[in-house]
Amino acid sequence: MEKVGFIFDLDGVIVDTAKYHYLAWRKLANELGFEFTKEQNELFKGVSRKKCLEILLDIGNFTATQNQFDKWMVEKNVDYLAYIEKMNSSEILPDVVRVLKYLKNKNIPIALGSASKNARPILEKVDLLLYFDSIVDGNSVTKAKPDPEVFLIAANNLGVAPNSCVVFEDAVAGIQAANKAKMLSIAIGDAEILNEADYNFNDFTEMNDDFLESLINK
Ligand code: BG6
Ligand code: MG
Repeated sequence: MEKVGFIFDLDGVIVDTAKYHYLAWRKLANELGFEFTKEQNELFKGVSRKKCLEILLDIGNFTATQNQFDKWMVEKNVDYLAYIEKMNSSEILPDVVRVLKYLKNKNIPIALGSASKNARPILEKVDLLLYFDSIVDGNSVTKAKPDPEVFLIAANNLGVAPNSCVVFEDAVAGIQAANKAKMLSIAIGDAEILNEADYNFNDFTEMNDDFLESLINK
């Protein structure tokens, strides 16, 4: 049997941090004098912080000097970190721990593959660091999703061939990155939006042990 590896995205898969990203971006938009809606926040999922600010400024029809751009990047993150500071394990999404435990009990290598530069402190806050054999985050990559770099580094760190890896993702860019890496892509979220995935689930409560077993033995 070939060795398989599992790669989890963080924001929207393990924890619902999209709401905190939204509040921090909305505060900045409001300070700059325009609205930023929850619908527009959908565009930010899986997208790097820099790209998010570029999209936000586009929405507000704003042009920024490099100094302003850098300042707003820092400002947004300071506000985001204030939300993260208060997080604890109650914010782990349903059945994530069951799935992590199931894989861990079978000695399956597990990696994090996230665009966030705040991934490690978040995993610490919610007490999940112990499940991950490798953490690949926004600090380790040069190319953002949908580029497959983040997942290819994770596979390499786990010592697993890319086509033997399974990726859990909630963002279109993330599903595309997994597909480009030739990994099995499993969407967590809206099946209509995430229609490029190999499988779709609304959340981990819909994913039973038999399905996980079938992935391990694929
Ligand atoms: C992704 C989120 O996981 O991380 C994006 O889905 C976010 O919304 C990106 O912009 C970068 O996060 P951070 O924590 O480095 O600003
Ligand atoms: Mg995500």
